[in-house]
Amino acid sequence: MAKKILVTGGAGYLGTRFVEHLLKDTDRSIIVLDNFSRGRYNFIGPLKRKYPGRIEIAPIDIRDSNHVEELLKKNQGQIDEVVHLAAIVDAFSTNREGKDVECMAVNRDAAIKLAELAKKYRVKKYVHTSTVSLYSQGENLTEDADKKPLSTYGKAKHESEKVLGLADDNFKIVALRPATFVGWSPGFATQTIINLACARAAYDIPLQVFDTALEGNKSYLYLGDHCKAMQFALDNIDKISGQALNVVSFHATQNSIINHKARAQKRSAF
Ligand SMILES: NC(=O)c1ccc[n+]([C@@H]2O[C@H](COP(=O)([O-])OP(=O)(O)OC[C@H]3O[C@@H](n4cnc5c(N)ncnc54)[C@H](O)[C@@H]3O)[C@@H](O)[C@H]2O)c1
Repeated sequence: MAKKILVTGGAGYLGTRFVEHLLKDTDRSIIVLDNFSRGRYNFIGPLKRKYPGRIEIAPIDIRDSNHVEELLKKNQGQIDEVVHLAAIVDAFSTNREGKDVECMAVNRDAAIKLAELAKKYRVKKYVHTSTVSLYSQGENLTEDADKKPLSTYGKAKHESEKVLGLADDNFKIVALRPATFVGWSPGFATQTIINLACARAAYDIPLQVFDTALEGNKSYLYLGDHCKAMQFALDNIDKISGQALNVVSFHATQNSIINHKARAQKRSAF
């Protein structure tokens, strides 16, 4: 029987791009698990129609461990890989009272439970998604740099890396720490400055930025690069199991991003 890959958060910004990558570049069947709190059926629907029979949708909340377990049990022996992307992602909102508790429940507790259940139901390869936000700030950071998360989001992701302790000969697991995503996907999101600048430029809408934020260097990651990184992690997991690895495409200041946009506008004017 054909093996399946379970992609949690597969209806979101990165998730839809990764699902598209799997459909185009592999012959895998995919189960998209998502509670559709941010993801949308209309992001994933066109892919489902274009590749009939390749995508199954499981509308489940990862906090609902009974339903998650039911799904893994039903597909035992079929799901051999899991890529875990589902999370509450708006980092700064997670410092608000109430949102902090929800963030810990989803991004740490449910994430750890999911990995434990995956191991119980004999999944072989598991990619856990963490974040560079656990370092607070800086560029050219190495994985052993100080962890000083500024948000509950970063703290929850850092603590969720406990899942690496589940690694053994039968269950290979790696945590990837991606930088801020940029680029197009079927579930395109404008929460990052580069995407927002591009979307506003396309509609000729002005962009307001704080002077104080202009020179801070930030790390970014193209969605396409991260799809390749996740595929690389799955293909090479025997060599990297148990590790947490940063994933970054480039560093930039807001100033350089805005000037880049200004140069692009100038070129198109001629
Ligand atoms: N966006 C970034 O710049 C960035 C940077 C570093 C790491 N990450 C991580 O990458 C992953 C994907 O992020 P994204 O930008 O695609 O975010 P996103 O919000 O677009 O996608 C997350 C998906 O998870 C789903 N989800 C949320 N809570 C859920 C729950 N309780 N049960 C089931 N599904 C749930 C949402 O509906 C959404 O489709 C996340 O783990 C995020 O923390 C994102």
